Amino acid sequence: MAIFKKKQPKEVSLSDIVLPEHIGIIMDGNGRWAKKRGLPRSAGHTAGAQTFRKIARYCSDIGIKYLTVYAFSTENWRRPGDEIDALMRLFKDYLQESIRDFKDDSIVLRFIGDRTAFSPELLSLMNENEEESCDRDGMVLNIAMNYGGRAELVRAIRSLAARAAEGGIKPEDITEQTVSDNLYTAGQPDPDLIIRPSGENRTSNFLLWQSAYAEYVIMDVLWPDFTSDDLDRALIEFAKRNRRFGGV
Ligand code: IPE
Ligand code: IPE
Ligand code: MG
Repeated sequence: MAIFKKKQPKEVSLSDIVLPEHIGIIMDGNGRWAKKRGLPRSAGHTAGAQTFRKIARYCSDIGIKYLTVYAFSTENWRRPGDEIDALMRLFKDYLQESIRDFKDDSIVLRFIGDRTAFSPELLSLMNENEEESCDRDGMVLNIAMNYGGRAELVRAIRSLAARAAEGGIKPEDITEQTVSDNLYTAGQPDPDLIIRPSGENRTSNFLLWQSAYAEYVIMDVLWPDFTSDDLDRALIEFAKRNRRFGGV
C-alpha cells in the first residue's frame, strides 16, 4: 500500500466520477495530533469525534449509501484506563446527542462489534439509536466499536459450526455467501474504498473478510485534521483506480 501524499488540486468534480457505494474509514491519528500540540491524548479523541460528525454528515450529503467507521478495536482495550474512559465518554456523548438532536435525520445507525463489553448505559443507548433510526431511508452508518475482523470471523464460524452440529446445515452448505451472512455487516455490500488517515500501512484488523477487493487509500493527514476536501481527494483517487477483481 502506498501513502497518498500529494495534495491534488480538485480539477475533477464529484459529479463527474463514480462514487463508491460503501466507504470504510480507519479514524486514526488522534493521539499524534494531540501530542504535536502538547495536549493529552484524550484531547485528540475529542477533536477526532468532531471530525467524525462532520465527515459522516458530508458522506450522507454527497449520497454515499454505506459508511463504516472504525472507532474502537478489540485491541484498543490495551490502552491506559483513563484513555479508554475518555473514549467511552465521547461515545456516550455522541449517542445521547444523536437521540436528542437528530430526530429528523435520515441516517440509519448500526453498531458492529462485540457489545457484551459495554456498560448497560451504553448498551441501551446503542439499542435505542438503532431502534430509532432503523426505518430511515438514508445512509447506513456502521460504527465499529469493540470490533475486530478476526473476532467477527470466529463468531461467524462458531455460529455455523453450532448449526452444523445440530444437523441444521451440512459442511458443504457453507459458502462465501453463508459466511458473509453471518458477519455483523450481513446484507450490506462490501466496502469499495477504505481510507486510512495518519499514514499507517496496515488494516489493524478492520473488515478483514469484507475488504477482499476494497481499494485502500492511505492518507498523510491525522484524523482530527481530516476535511471534506481530503475525502474528495480520496474519492477522486478511488475513481482513477483500475479494479480488476482478478480478471484482466
Ligand atoms: C485513533 O487514534 C483512535 C482510536 C484508536 C480509538 P489513535 O489514538 O490510535 O491515534 P495515534 O495512532 O496514537 O496517533
Ligand atoms: C486502529 O487504529 C483502530 C481504530 C482506529 C479504532 P490503532 O491505532 O488501534 O491501530 P494500530 O495499533 O496503529 O495498528
Ligand atoms: Mg493509532
